[in-house]
Amino acid sequence: MTPTTELQKPVIKTELPGAKAREIIAADAQFVTPSYPRPDYKLVAEKGYGVWIEDVDGNVFLDCNAGVAVCSTGHCHPEIVEAITKQTETLIHMCGTDYYYRHMPALGKKLDEIVPIKSPTKTHFANSGAEAVETALKLAMYHTKRQKFISFFGSFHGRTMGALSLTSSKKAQRSGFARQALDVVHVPYPNHIRSPFKDVTDAESASKATIDWIENRLFQTTTPPEEVAGIVVEVVQGEGGYIPAPPNFLKELRRICDEHGIMLIVDEVQSGMGRTGKMFATEYYGIEPDIMCLAKGIGSGLPIGVCVARADIMDWHKGAHASTFGGNPVCIASALKTIELLENGLTENARVVGDYLQNGLREFMRKYDCIGDVRGLGLMIGVEFVESKETMKPAPELRDKIEMACFNRGLIILGCGANTIRWSPPLILTQGNVDVALAIFDEAIEASI
Ligand SMILES: Cc1ncc(COP(=O)(O)O)c(C=O)c1O
Repeated sequence: MTPTTELQKPVIKTELPGAKAREIIAADAQFVTPSYPRPDYKLVAEKGYGVWIEDVDGNVFLDCNAGVAVCSTGHCHPEIVEAITKQTETLIHMCGTDYYYRHMPALGKKLDEIVPIKSPTKTHFANSGAEAVETALKLAMYHTKRQKFISFFGSFHGRTMGALSLTSSKKAQRSGFARQALDVVHVPYPNHIRSPFKDVTDAESASKATIDWIENRLFQTTTPPEEVAGIVVEVVQGEGGYIPAPPNFLKELRRICDEHGIMLIVDEVQSGMGRTGKMFATEYYGIEPDIMCLAKGIGSGLPIGVCVARADIMDWHKGAHASTFGGNPVCIASALKTIELLENGLTENARVVGDYLQNGLREFMRKYDCIGDVRGLGLMIGVEFVESKETMKPAPELRDKIEMACFNRGLIILGCGANTIRWSPPLILTQGNVDVALAIFDEAIEASI
């Protein structure tokens, strides 16, 4: 079959995984690290076009994961391919840590225009989300001359040693690595349906409880505010279960940071770059971070992570932080084109199609007792599976079964948190694609309960 972006429905023509896929999976088991957190279903990708992903056996899947929220412009968007190709013909690498090229200031300037931090800002270029977070941590320590951080349970900021000190969405990320490299204290993320605090009934009371814990417990005991370099927060907690922060939560964090000279570090590695229907999820909350981390969707699949901060904060000395490949011209060419496409309609599409998808999922919540919550912004939506609405007991096995049933029917979705399915499709998704995806999801739930 010749793939086209106009394809209407998935095409599954072999058993899954097929013969060629099984060969690759066997070779992978022999030669590739077993540490990757792959799901139960096994997709062996060969080609991507638009919202479709084709495996090595010619099966075509509707991709509602986008390589874990990365391929924001869809797979192999022709304008991205053209931008990358053109750049590879002129300059692939010259190491921005030691030399200059126009791409770095061009993307820095563009970010200065669009991030929700008052200009002037400066940008440090890296290759991944974790590296963007490492930059933020070092910068906050350097600028404040302090060493402690506050992070949230359920958070994911990467697996390098500094970022890992913040990360706390799963035991597997921590097991075997002994003590934290950094002095980080974790507090509950304000998720009202899973709050450890008494008297939490809604998002607002969950937010108040966490803020109260920080100010009246942490600051008065283990973590004096004058020793805290930064509070690191995901505006929509990603790997922890696709949970948007309550409306006032970021304002309160901003207030605390202002009162104590603490850096507010916002990690929009997953929620940024148009995914939530605004360029940055922070824009829904009306605050300005001091430091922001971006990666994933910014490069349409090429490895780039950036840390943007107020210029007066990014005031470190020459040699304090740098990366050989960070801000590679090819990755930046892709990022600039990605931002252009996001500004020219894809962010708006994420908002409109995201609402449409969320409405469809909410109907399923009414239909199925095993759906305990549907939440999200734009095309960043979580569906939480429970034993019943009455008990709200998490149902991780059912979640995994549904994920597999979707795969077998040609729909790629991926779990996050203990019992949630995330929807993080390419931002080019259409309402027609949503209809197809929802029909498969419905069938998969029906077949799994
Ligand atoms: C919010 C957030 N921060 C940081 C990271 C780490 O990014 P990377 O895997 O590119 O290191 C992730 C990855 O899922 C993320 O979701």
